[in-house]
Amino acid sequence: MAPDTIDFLADSTNRHLAYGPEIAARTAPLYERVKTVIPAIEWPVFAPYIDAINRLKRTRNAVILAHNYQTPEIFHGVADITGDSLVLAREAAKVDADIILLCGVQFMAETAKLMNPQKTVLIPDLEAGCSLAASITGADVRLLKQRYPGVPVVCYVNSSAEVKAESDICCTSANAVQIVESFGAERVIMLPDEYLAKNTAAQTSVEIIAWHGKCEVHERFSAEDIRAYRAATPGIIVLAHPECPPEVVAAADFTGSTAAMADYVGRNRPARVVLVTECSMSDNVAAAHPDIEFVRPCNLCPHMKRITLPKILDALESRRYEVTVDPAIAARARQSVERMIQASR
Ligand code: 13P
Ligand code: SF4
Repeated sequence: MAPDTIDFLADSTNRHLAYGPEIAARTAPLYERVKTVIPAIEWPVFAPYIDAINRLKRTRNAVILAHNYQTPEIFHGVADITGDSLVLAREAAKVDADIILLCGVQFMAETAKLMNPQKTVLIPDLEAGCSLAASITGADVRLLKQRYPGVPVVCYVNSSAEVKAESDICCTSANAVQIVESFGAERVIMLPDEYLAKNTAAQTSVEIIAWHGKCEVHERFSAEDIRAYRAATPGIIVLAHPECPPEVVAAADFTGSTAAMADYVGRNRPARVVLVTECSMSDNVAAAHPDIEFVRPCNLCPHMKRITLPKILDALESRRYEVTVDPAIAARARQSVERMIQASR
């Protein structure tokens, strides 16, 4: 091995991707963006993959969409479009390239396929699920509709295409109140996230019938945690995701989608802040604001963390894993997402 070259055995195909001066030079501008959250000693592990992915995505005519919970080497290193679930759904519809590679979880990739069915949509790991999406089936929604005839059904985008197909409209954490109120109805069914439903109910006079799904990341935060952050760091600003329990949201200074939390930090520039959500979110926002102190409570989403640089490279090379939606449900599921996009313009 040359003294300025380091070899790594870092992916499922057992290949060595070498790091050397050329890759160091090509990836230097990217490292500048993440140097406050990725130690210099780790960059030689990531850089060869970042370099290979960025070159291959041009050859393959692919666009990489990444959710805000992807790790910084993915989010800042290879993604072309980043954002919350609403941004990813909207942007997927506009992609002109042949391939959409979705760095996020299954429901996000399915939504991209619904929004742009002519494109090949790839996800680097088929097991990247979501505890909310897994909490309810299409049959459950049909039973709810029998129990509450005529009551509109709003489904969180964190749901399967089958559940979307049984619903009247989708929502995300960025537009939940607006969507719930869009019917002018006295009550709506809102599924599957019980906490998002309760947090939305606190902001509207519409009566909400909830399901009992929970996000396994956000349900673990407690009001006691918020008190502890405030006690440990006086003056800290607390931002919480609306999938957190209502007592956590009540104890926070601001609640919003992942994109709304990032916007809050950029607009208000608090000296010290805690994002009560998934770990990588703080890293990604902190990379853009090195002067702000981020206190990092760390609850990892095991599904989001299935996506890694070696798997992204494998996905581009082998055009896997292709995401498909059963044509029997795709049209109705698409309608639910498109109604949301129309209603939240
Ligand atoms: P956002 O739409 O706010 O990014 O949330 C997606 C998600 O999975 C949160 O847990
Ligand atoms: Fe699902 Fe929660 Fe993970 Fe988001 S953070 S993908 S809601 S399990």
